[in-house]
Amino acid sequence: MDNKVAIVTGAGRGIGLGIANKLAKELDMNIVIVDVDEVSMADAVNQIKSIGKEAIAVKCDVSKAADVQSMVAKAFEFGEVDLVVNNAGITRDSMLLKMSEADYDLVLNINLKGIFFICQAVCGRWVSAAKKLAEAAAPAPAGPDAKEVKMEPSFYPKKRIVNISSIVAKGGNIGQANYTASKAGVIAMTKTIAKEMARYNINANCIQPGFIKTPMTDKMPEKVIAKFVAEIPLQRMGLPEDIAGAVKFLSSKDSDYVTGITIEVAGGLNM
Ligand SMILES: NC(=O)c1ccc[n+]([C@@H]2O[C@H](COP(=O)([O-])OP(=O)(O)OC[C@H]3O[C@@H](n4cnc5c(N)ncnc54)[C@H](O)[C@@H]3O)[C@@H](O)[C@H]2O)c1
Repeated sequence: MDNKVAIVTGAGRGIGLGIANKLAKELDMNIVIVDVDEVSMADAVNQIKSIGKEAIAVKCDVSKAADVQSMVAKAFEFGEVDLVVNNAGITRDSMLLKMSEADYDLVLNINLKGIFFICQAVCGRWVSAAKKLAEAAAPAPAGPDAKEVKMEPSFYPKKRIVNISSIVAKGGNIGQANYTASKAGVIAMTKTIAKEMARYNINANCIQPGFIKTPMTDKMPEKVIAKFVAEIPLQRMGLPEDIAGAVKFLSSKDSDYVTGITIEVAGGLNM
């Protein structure tokens, strides 16, 4: 098998599943399906295999550091991880004055801390591998004062992170103090990771989906959906494939010189 591997979190259904399918079909990647729902993960793995690519399911709650460590270890055993798409996310909506601390913490822990855990674990491995490559190419001077061998970023193999934020991070959204805070945090953290990791040729970018038809939005009342759609210049909800298209760009050679940005995929919706 071609060994290029993408880790996609929350890939059991919805946007994550759409992303996994597109990366397998159009970028020829093997996929590590990460989710907490074993039934949907098994179905996702079958979908990827039916395309002719390899896939494994790794059950992992992204908000748990130990789960993430073990998931990342399995992914690196599976093949050469070139890409991580941090897509897993949840909502627990209520108005500020009613929001519980538990719902605040849960959303922040999954949507934001989960991305921190995964980026730290994956970048740690990418950077160690990069340092070994540099030392092999130009052996470091020995001794206690020896400094790290520094190479131009382009010396290292390109690695990529794509984080899924939300359009509501721009202007806020009623009932989503926890969610909007988490999604704005994702953008700021991605920009920092992009700056810190650029020297190792690791790109980090964000996508801000608008209003996308998935099980997450299917649970909203029809009236609320109609109200949102009326605000969208392109006059329809987005589909998981719409988001997957932007992920594909940020996962391909075409975006080698793109890092630290966010792409809005929202049908013109401007919160
Ligand atoms: N649907 C939208 O309109 C919309 C808009 C903007 C941003 N987003 C973001 O896109 C991402 C995907 O959304 P979706 O609509 O496909 O949601 P979804 O609820 O349909 O799917 C999310 C998936 O993540 C998994 N998941 C939940 N908690 C997890 C955890 N702790 N660890 C691992 N996996 C976990 C779920 O099991 C599920 O398979 C989320 O980050 C969401 O915030 C969605």
